[in-house]
Amino acid sequence: MTRWSKIAVVGAGAIGGSLAQRLAEADLADELVIVDIVEGLPQGKALDIEQSAPLLGFTTRVSGSTELSDMAGASLVALTAGFARKPGMSRSDLLGKNAGIIRAHAEAIKRFAPKSIVLVVTNPVDVMAHLVKQVTEFPREHVIAESGALDSARFRLFVARELQVAPSDVIAFVMGTHGDTMVPIISHCSVRGVPLTELMPKEKIDAIVQRTKNGGAEIVNLLKSGSAYFAPSAAQLEMVTAMARNERKLLSASVELQGEYGQSGIFLSVPTILGSEGLAKIVETPLSAEEQRLLGESAKAVRQDVNLLETLPK
Ligand code: LAC
Repeated sequence: MTRWSKIAVVGAGAIGGSLAQRLAEADLADELVIVDIVEGLPQGKALDIEQSAPLLGFTTRVSGSTELSDMAGASLVALTAGFARKPGMSRSDLLGKNAGIIRAHAEAIKRFAPKSIVLVVTNPVDVMAHLVKQVTEFPREHVIAESGALDSARFRLFVARELQVAPSDVIAFVMGTHGDTMVPIISHCSVRGVPLTELMPKEKIDAIVQRTKNGGAEIVNLLKSGSAYFAPSAAQLEMVTAMARNERKLLSASVELQGEYGQSGIFLSVPTILGSEGLAKIVETPLSAEEQRLLGESAKAVRQDVNLLETLPK
């Protein structure tokens, strides 16, 4: 099976650690390096993960480092560094705190891993991806943010539990931004091709849409001192696997739109095909008038945050 020679995970927090574990276990690269500024944290997590290799059978070498230059040679850099939400915060509330961190890391990625694909994870993710693309000046094929795959998974699970069907049989895309204005696309949701609208009354669908929009906050409110990481890292794994193995899976991913869905110059989650080149294709599919309108609202919310970003000191 094809695999990369190196993957870097930047940020050894809850998401970075969970993602590193999943990536190592999936055996997607010869080498996985976890980078974090806190001395001991990336090294400790790396060693702990690597000691599971004899038990789980993977061969990826896992190391930890506090040197950003150790991301050199990585085909993919997963950027997870930064602060997570606390109860009562929106993802946009993190913008001021995380922008400086992401700017510094984007500069390091440009310097040390100029050919890499960057998977942006730090919130507010669609805006941080915008910043990474601006700083690195990478082609849009190489800057991809994770949000739609996670929001879609949450929506799919809630539908599956309501209908009592296998979660993986529910096919759905959540588009737009990773925030209150995300847009679960009901017109394309099905259980293996059977339209959701034939299986569930509108009130139930509306309730699931609402729970999906609140999906991250529901967990933040339960955890109180951090945000979700098991499902986020699983969504990131699906995306990285699609690229490392050139699977060309059709996934919801946040990418810079250049006219698609009537939007330009901002990152929004849309149906994409991911392969070894990163973003292989954006799939444009007709939406209902209401879905198109909601996507416009989502774009407006991201634009507002991008404008705010421009006002921050560089
Ligand atoms: C969430 C955070 C990670 O949605 O954005 O859980």
